[in-house]
Amino acid sequence: MVARPKLLVTRRIFPEVLERLEAHFEVASNQDDEEWSAEALRARVSDCEALFVVASDRVDAALLGAAPKLRIVSTGSVGYNHIDLAACSARGVVVGNTPDVLTEATADMAWTLLMAAARRVSESERWLRDGQWKRWAFDQFLGADLFRSTLGIIGMGRIGSAVARRARGFEMTVLYSNRSRAANEAELGAQFVPRDELLARADHVVLVLPYSQATHHTIGERELALMKPTATLVNIARGGIVDDAALARALEEGRIAAAGLDVYENEPALNPALLDAPGIVLTPHIGSATRSSRVGMAMLAADNLIAFAEGRPLPAPVRV
Ligand code: DGY
Repeated sequence: MVARPKLLVTRRIFPEVLERLEAHFEVASNQDDEEWSAEALRARVSDCEALFVVASDRVDAALLGAAPKLRIVSTGSVGYNHIDLAACSARGVVVGNTPDVLTEATADMAWTLLMAAARRVSESERWLRDGQWKRWAFDQFLGADLFRSTLGIIGMGRIGSAVARRARGFEMTVLYSNRSRAANEAELGAQFVPRDELLARADHVVLVLPYSQATHHTIGERELALMKPTATLVNIARGGIVDDAALARALEEGRIAAAGLDVYENEPALNPALLDAPGIVLTPHIGSATRSSRVGMAMLAADNLIAFAEGRPLPAPVRV
């Protein structure tokens, strides 16, 4: 019997996915609730041909250097800013990711955060649980309208388009900014505008762009100053796209009204100022966390690995 290639999986995965992988690989996986440190990961991957990671695992030159047999990295995420593609390419390591399967769940979560933040859901629930609700009042927890408001979407890829499609039901004016104009602009009823104009005109801004050095702090002091004092900001994309400290200050000083965040600059650590900021809804990077979406992501990551093991093209390759 031919020896199966060694695969290291950095997370506990769904049994049905593990079973498929075990038919093709000799699998070792992290069964703990703790993330392996970079050193622990380097030690474990040293004799592996294949690696299954998630968005919080850093695949850099140091890791690749410690894994001379590594031929494929498959990430259970659509984002791949945690992988040094140039270093992979230099070592002949192919990379796969998981687009499409999480698009709708993530767009739903953008809307969840937008509605919760604009209508002060977390803030009013905390107040209620705190036993502070004594009477109904006209001016209690006044939020911002969504219906017929203006939505600004920064990043009009698959998820941005899915966010825009949902805006139709709210009869919103949709503005977007992106590296290039979207081919489906007419279908989405979205208008391409320069980013500063979007920030100034939008009642609500949703960030759905990939992270890179070029998009680091896309929203910082200057951009927050362009937004309306009544505006809501949602980050469903990646930590680092927003300057979290600047956002906390803007909320504290009432320069914008609300924010919904699913991702953070140094997650899982949070800037403590965000915890105290008013008008904020915070979730722990659960944008894609529905059962079907997460199983779909794990399956597609497995499909990439299995295709590679069988000498077929990856169903979802990242061009390195
Ligand atoms: C992704 O797929 O990039 C999500 O952020 C989950 O990690």
